[in-house]
Amino acid sequence: MLGHNYMEPALFHSVPDFTGDSLYLARVSAKAQAQIIVFCGVRFMAETAKSLNPSRKVLLPSAKGGCSLAESVTAADVRALKALYPGVPTVTYINCYQEVKAEVDYVCTSGNAEQVVKHILAQGHKKIIFLPDEYLAANVARETGMAIVYPRRNGKLEQAAEPAGASTVMIGWRGRCEVHDKFTVEDVTNARKQFPDVTVLAHPECSPEVVEAADFSGSTTQMIKYVENMKSGRYLLLTECSMGDNIAAKNPRREMIRLCSVRCPHMNEISLEETLESLRQERYEVTVDEDVRQRSMTSLERMLAIG
Ligand code: 13P
Ligand code: SF4
Repeated sequence: MLGHNYMEPALFHSVPDFTGDSLYLARVSAKAQAQIIVFCGVRFMAETAKSLNPSRKVLLPSAKGGCSLAESVTAADVRALKALYPGVPTVTYINCYQEVKAEVDYVCTSGNAEQVVKHILAQGHKKIIFLPDEYLAANVARETGMAIVYPRRNGKLEQAAEPAGASTVMIGWRGRCEVHDKFTVEDVTNARKQFPDVTVLAHPECSPEVVEAADFSGSTTQMIKYVENMKSGRYLLLTECSMGDNIAAKNPRREMIRLCSVRCPHMNEISLEETLESLRQERYEVTVDEDVRQRSMTSLERMLAIG
């Protein structure tokens, strides 16, 4: 039983054998020996598990388990982008469906996006297509010194003008996480005014302005580790709120500032009760078309190999 860091506290602290971020859970699912994997997370994560370990039965305790980022891009969009930028390497954030992963050269997570991009740049490429998260792409572009442009969509896709003098250019996509999109720079400024000693942590699905205003940005597990390593003091998490509850329960000596109650509606579909029904009825089984699975293996294996 695998539990993503965004699971509600009652579930997170009880039934999963392994808890973690998308990258860690992908690694665990690839090696799982049990006949059944119950994935307490959203669909794109369960599809990844099924693809990496196809002889296991993978169950998702929700019939849907969507994600606004995964909904924002299709395999046809990737093919159109590749036609617009022939020969340019393609990377997708793991938050997309398997058909999209089957079209690209690399998959990454928030835990290794920067390493994947640096790996491609080290091969001498000057352009990279990075899908579908507009903000993660912009955050990684800034960290790696790349300019970023977004193709225009006037009925059909058109190349965007590239800044003169840019040595490397990232080509992004306009997908957003509906949860992290809600945090603003004003939230950070207000928290700092009230609590001048606060440490602000932001998931890289937040806007570049918010990430810039924060003290640290990283995957869900990287944020958890950061809080665990803090000697003392207050912290503010700009991410999904159940994760805040899970960290607060584990770290009672550090003070968490509560800003919001931004819950991911898709992660929220997975409850302790639904997980019990999932086990009792062996539902909802996640399947991946074998041709799609095979075509997605190269990009997935590169994700596991890098970072
Ligand atoms: P992590 O890979 O950091 O766990 O993030 C997954 C996710 O969906 C964040 O919104
Ligand atoms: Fe998708 Fe955002 Fe929910 Fe993560 S928090 S699963 S990116 S909608």
